[in-house]
Amino acid sequence: MAVTGTATIAGYLVARRVLDEAEILNLAVHPGHLRRGLGTELVRDLLADLARAGARRVFLEVRASNLGAQALYRRLGFQSMGRRLGYYSNPREDALILSRELAAS
Ligand SMILES: CC(C)(COP(=O)(O)OP(=O)(O)OC[C@H]1O[C@@H](n2cnc3c(N)ncnc32)[C@H](O)[C@@H]1OP(=O)(O)O)[C@@H](O)C(=O)NCCC(=O)NCCS
Repeated sequence: MAVTGTATIAGYLVARRVLDEAEILNLAVHPGHLRRGLGTELVRDLLADLARAGARRVFLEVRASNLGAQALYRRLGFQSMGRRLGYYSNPREDALILSRELAAS
């Protein structure tokens, strides 16, 4: 079937779960949709899905300079667990490891 027209993806989140642990691999919101709560909603929905699926803890890495994303995650209860030195390239930078417990549901 031919698909015509265009659509904009406003935001997306990629995560994986193995047993009771999960990891957020990527979160991005389109520049035209920033600061409207979409990133928060994507993470909130994921946390609820993960808790329902039996996950007890979720982790992620974020660039040390990415204060906006860190603020979003901290507002959702994530706390710093450590730092991976030189984790990112282009430009080379440390990653902060953030983590949050999930309530069993
Ligand atoms: C990080 C990102 C996903 C945030 O998406 P968003 O939809 O704009 O986030 P929200 O609207 O839910 O923001 C929630 C809160 O997070 C904080 N925040 C989000 N972006 C921020 C920024 N650029 N600077 C400072 N604080 C920011 C604010 O506290 C914000 O609340 P407020 O708007 O009431 O002040 C988006 O900026 C993005 O796609 N960035 C590029 C990719 C990226 O960095 N992904 C994260 C990798 S771990």
